[in-house]
Amino acid sequence: MPTPFNLELSRRELLVSSAATVALAGAAGGARAADRGEESLNRSTEVSFEVNGEAKRLDLDNRTTLLDALREHLHLTGTKKGCDHGQCGACTVLVDGRRINSCLTLAVMHEGDKITTIEGLGQPGSLHPMQAAFVKYDGFQCGYCTPGQICSSVAVLEEIRADIPSHVTQDLNTPAAITSAEIRERMSGNICRCGAYSNILDAITEVAGVPA
Ligand code: FES
Ligand code: FES
Repeated sequence: MPTPFNLELSRRELLVSSAATVALAGAAGGARAADRGEESLNRSTEVSFEVNGEAKRLDLDNRTTLLDALREHLHLTGTKKGCDHGQCGACTVLVDGRRINSCLTLAVMHEGDKITTIEGLGQPGSLHPMQAAFVKYDGFQCGYCTPGQICSSVAVLEEIRADIPSHVTQDLNTPAAITSAEIRERMSGNICRCGAYSNILDAITEVAGVPA
């Protein structure tokens, strides 16, 4: 049976108007989501944490990384910004004793945490044993990666002592030994463009008390 001309037109119109309605609804929803996103991005939050034993309270844009909070707001410039993408380890700090890439975490996520930067590990005249070993073994050249290397290596030894396995741990049923293979693997996220790796390893193994 032939379709009446008027009915076909009205079907077409119906389809067009439905599509337009869906598009409009989508656009409105997108705009609302964008507004909400804009709103949350523009918000700041007060955060309190401990940095190198001192209580700090900051009012920060929610998007501020822990790295930027340390460097730009607290002026602790020992922690370095290398890639700002979690690829180089230059920004490594300790949060409640665990190493973390501070460029990959938002400061407002660390309410109540205890943060240790290279400045908190030791100071000239009272160096942390790992800092002293890096000096002794010449574990740096330009020094840009060094704060991250030192913070990371301090945590690496604690990880091994806490029996946390790595990709090269042979037997998961026995405590991991502090070997140069374990140290190399665990330090692989800390890049040194000067290539001071062998001296860094010497420094860490001395502090660990094992042969390189
Ligand atoms: Fe954070 Fe490179 S600056 S990993
Ligand atoms: Fe220069 Fe490591 S000492 S990047």
